[in-house]
Amino acid sequence: MRSSEIKWLIEAALDARGRAVAPYSEFQVGAALLTRDGEIITGANVESASYGLTCCAERVALFKALTDGQRGFKAIAVVARAPGGAMPCGACRQLLAEHAPGAEVFVADSARPGKVRRFTVRKLLPSAFVKWLAVNGGGQGGKASPRNHRAKS
Ligand code: THU
Repeated sequence: MRSSEIKWLIEAALDARGRAVAPYSEFQVGAALLTRDGEIITGANVESASYGLTCCAERVALFKALTDGQRGFKAIAVVARAPGGAMPCGACRQLLAEHAPGAEVFVADSARPGKVRRFTVRKLLPSAFVKWLAVNGGGQGGKASPRNHRAKS
């Protein structure tokens, strides 16, 4: 990916971070997903008084994108105010492995957005359990793949 594209994606994540709802941890995280068609879908973490219901920025962005009908993700950027940024948690890695297996992951500290660390979803969660792949022996374009899945009317 071109550095200008990475910069835009980080900027979108920074913008989303400003809309985080994190009154308990006060740890605001922003995420921005880039689709293969060049669309950017953002999300931020949302916390609950029942702490365990909290949803990370990455999953908010992914759920927004998926329920908007988006499929095929090229990259995700994640920003938080922490040295080196915040790495996606295990739950987010699982969801990304299922819905954005080929994506690059860009992580940055919101105080130093120009310093971006690069990973891939595959590198962050090797040997992920992906039921669709288990069912279809490959998944790419398989009948039951999430890429093709649409609710029946
Ligand atoms: N959080 C994220 O949104 N993404 C991450 O990658 C790490 C953690 C959120 C969850 C919670 O609202 C807050 O950060 C503190 O854990």
